[in-house]
Amino acid sequence: MKIPFVDLHAQYLTIKEEIDRAIADVIAESAYIRGRQVDAFEHAWAKTLGVKRCVSCANGTDAIYIALRALGLQPGDEVITSAHSWISTSESITQAGGRVVFSDTDAETFTIDPGDIERKITPATVGIIPVHLYGQPADMGAIMAIAKKRNLWVIEDCAQAHLASYKGQLVGTFGNVGTFSFYPGKNLGAYGDAGCVVTNDNGLADWMVTFARHGGKGDHIMEGINSRMDGLQAAILNAKLPHLPAWTAARRGVAACYNELLENVGDVITPTVKSDRDHVYHLYVVRTENRDALREHLSQAGISTVLNYPKALPFYPAYAYLGHVPQDFPAAYFNQSRILSLPIYPEMSEEATTHVANTIAHFWGSESAKVIQLTTANLMAAEDRAPVVADN
Ligand SMILES: Cc1ncc(COP(=O)(O)O)c(C=O)c1O
Repeated sequence: MKIPFVDLHAQYLTIKEEIDRAIADVIAESAYIRGRQVDAFEHAWAKTLGVKRCVSCANGTDAIYIALRALGLQPGDEVITSAHSWISTSESITQAGGRVVFSDTDAETFTIDPGDIERKITPATVGIIPVHLYGQPADMGAIMAIAKKRNLWVIEDCAQAHLASYKGQLVGTFGNVGTFSFYPGKNLGAYGDAGCVVTNDNGLADWMVTFARHGGKGDHIMEGINSRMDGLQAAILNAKLPHLPAWTAARRGVAACYNELLENVGDVITPTVKSDRDHVYHLYVVRTENRDALREHLSQAGISTVLNYPKALPFYPAYAYLGHVPQDFPAAYFNQSRILSLPIYPEMSEEATTHVANTIAHFWGSESAKVIQLTTANLMAAEDRAPVVADN
């Protein structure tokens, strides 16, 4: 039984009529750039989150860049972000003229460690970008308390966390700005690139609208960039948005099924979810000491898996100039060779989920479960692993 990592076509088939009609409407109206579909999506997404403004843009990377520029980042300003993320988060800081300062992660949730944020603050620090990685909110209570105490702004990178919540409050609504990606494979995904920023600050929103549209239409009050969501993507997102709660529930169902079936299988550690957070399972990431061999076993069985990500950000060549060593980020470094993302998507059947779990159990055969505690106590025992090939 072949099992893909995600199945976007399966989702399309469930809403084919709505999508086809939405696309046909855009073509009939020639509303390719901006237009009513884009306005409608901005209003709908702001309403869904309960924020004043949503400003659409071309992708989730631009969203972070636009937010950084709106917050007035100056050359040499330091921004603290997670050592464990997709590179969009950190590269945007550099592109906006700032200096990237990585913080280690919580070993269990993979989200930024508030204790390490505090240790990394210097007089040059201006802001923090937590990432709600894999769909689990970062510790927003602690992060917002640090930001308030140290007078820092916060941009929440919500690219993987549509509708995730911390203590009942949706992510993207805590910081000065929340950024979203609608990349096709995201929990709410377009059929191409798309993204947005959300905020309750009208002044920031107005600045971001102007900046992302060449510094103003008609009257260029500044130099800006060209970062627009196109009408086709907005129409597709409008058609998909009403389904997002049900798709989120379906993802949680797949995760619950995995959790149950993988309990006590080999040394597999299923995702840790803090009691004050609602995980939306953009990714379902397990940890095991036998990651590479297990991955190969699954691949042989036709089951696709992904490494999100093969290395913690500070250890990529792009950041060699920072001169970091594993001891600087013990949790992120320890996890980088143990994490494995299993297939998950709303349309995934119980049969498929069970098949993946059984194939994992088969890897260990009849061996009794070897339980390994991945706690900070043994983090420093992390050894160098053979480098793994990057997955995007
Ligand atoms: C954590 C994170 N931040 C930002 C982005 C950037 O989004 P996009 O691909 O739409 O530019 C992504 C997308 O993969 C992401 O996973």
